[in-house]
Amino acid sequence: MTQSRPAAVIVLAAGEGTRMKSRTAKVLHTFLGRSLLGHVLAAVEPLGAASTVVVVGHQRDAVREHLTATAPQARSVVQAQQNGTGHAVRIALDEVGPLSGTVVVVCGDTPLLRPATLLELVAQHEESGSSATVVTARVEDPTGYGRIVRSPDGGLASIVEHRDADGVTLGIDEVNSGIYAFDANDLSSSLGEVATDNSQGEEYLTDVIGVLVRQARRVGAMVVGDDREVMGVNDRVQLAEARAVMRDRINHRWMASGVSIIDPTSTLIEVGVQLEPDAVIHPWTILEGRTTVAAGAEVGPGSQIIDSTVGPDAVVRFTSSDRAVIGPGAAVGPYTYLRPGTELGRGSRAGAFVETKNARVGDGSKIPHLSYVGDAEIGEGSNIGAATVVVNYDGVDKHQTVIGDHVRIGSDTMLVAPVTVGDGAYTAAGSVITDDVPAGAMGVGRARQRTILGWVLRKRGGTASADAAEKAHRAAKTEPTDDSAPAAGENAAAESHDGRDTPEGTGS
Ligand code: UD1
Ligand code: CA
Repeated sequence: MTQSRPAAVIVLAAGEGTRMKSRTAKVLHTFLGRSLLGHVLAAVEPLGAASTVVVVGHQRDAVREHLTATAPQARSVVQAQQNGTGHAVRIALDEVGPLSGTVVVVCGDTPLLRPATLLELVAQHEESGSSATVVTARVEDPTGYGRIVRSPDGGLASIVEHRDADGVTLGIDEVNSGIYAFDANDLSSSLGEVATDNSQGEEYLTDVIGVLVRQARRVGAMVVGDDREVMGVNDRVQLAEARAVMRDRINHRWMASGVSIIDPTSTLIEVGVQLEPDAVIHPWTILEGRTTVAAGAEVGPGSQIIDSTVGPDAVVRFTSSDRAVIGPGAAVGPYTYLRPGTELGRGSRAGAFVETKNARVGDGSKIPHLSYVGDAEIGEGSNIGAATVVVNYDGVDKHQTVIGDHVRIGSDTMLVAPVTVGDGAYTAAGSVITDDVPAGAMGVGRARQRTILGWVLRKRGGTASADAAEKAHRAAKTEPTDDSAPAAGENAAAESHDGRDTPEGTGS
């Protein structure tokens, strides 16, 4: 291929997109990590055009803001009134000033366009010395598209819009994709001759073809093999179709590079995600943003991972993760919520119904079940018992909790921040820890148990519980008296507790 860099790429994106029935401008609807417009701009990028101009109109502020944030190399030009695609191109040409060479025109709503097709278009256009080359497709249902009318010798004669077509023309199944390469000079001069005598009273870019043909200029067509590539997205059904096509392309590329995707149809991987060979992605999994998954890691089933790093050999099941770092060999899930600022160390674990936020969990430390850990730092080899809550919020401010190495936090501990539990320390199950626990100490913060013997028979006589208790007493030949129960307020001091203070049920 001998194509040069085009002088300009013009992206038409001023239309309203009423069929989306949306508050959001059509070209700003997103799938798999980019807006419709973003997908188009990514496709034209490899052309290396000297300038890229996006024609904006409806919701121009939102579209321009999006361009500034995602494609600062693109210029925008406002088409205040949508007087047609020809009018839009004229405005864009006025914006860039006199050009020579090739101008590529694409629509902002054809997100499946491939760079290779555009490169081929420019090459074919320039090699043939054409004034214009139109990308066309043969489609099963040409409804709504402009029809490609060919002369008896097979050459391109004109493009007739659906609404302006007669019965014979409507029967043509070759359609205009809305993607073109033009000679800049011929485009400018022919646009000046385009009339508005059509059903919409608009300046049609497509009429340029008829003008050039009448001037006996060379006009060509390039038929794409896969018509899905030039599919325009006009409504949400087509948006979903485009997403499915892009999903398959992305998934096939990753599988070819050595990633296992168990069920590609239920796996959505956004364009910015990076995966290493031998990563395994299980069904119903969505990988978003700048997520990376290292070799040997398994993600899913049922996980949504956003802007997170999954280390080598980590296992992440049924998990929602946002801006978290999951260390090598860590195990996460099922039903785990990792929020921003979570860093799980090597071989660590965040298990079922665990939520973490702004939490650093050291190598080999475990939060196996039913816990919340927020604004906390946990050292190495520590175990956080089931149902532990780091009470980080006093209603006004958030506070920090520090847990050392090889700590054993008993089940159902409330760690009221700010608080520090030293290396090797324990807390008793059911404790509310409000004071620091020094290294090696046992922190106990709970009431002593009272046992009122015979209570059920006295207060709940006749119930199934009372019957069961009576049966048990009969079998053991004991009396249901309560002589050993201490009165309220007689709880022994925590220090005198016996071995039952050992934090039980801390998970494994
Ligand atoms: C256009 C083509 C049609 C082709 C189809 C492919 C014309 C006259 N018709 O029809 O032959 O088959 O695309 O999808 O070109 N736009 C502007 N300013 C305007 C009008 C449109 O920027 O004044 C933009 C729209 O936002 C859109 C693109 O141009 O991105 C195409 O416009 P649209 O109204 O969708 O054209 P179609 O009727 O689909
Ligand atoms: Ca239209």
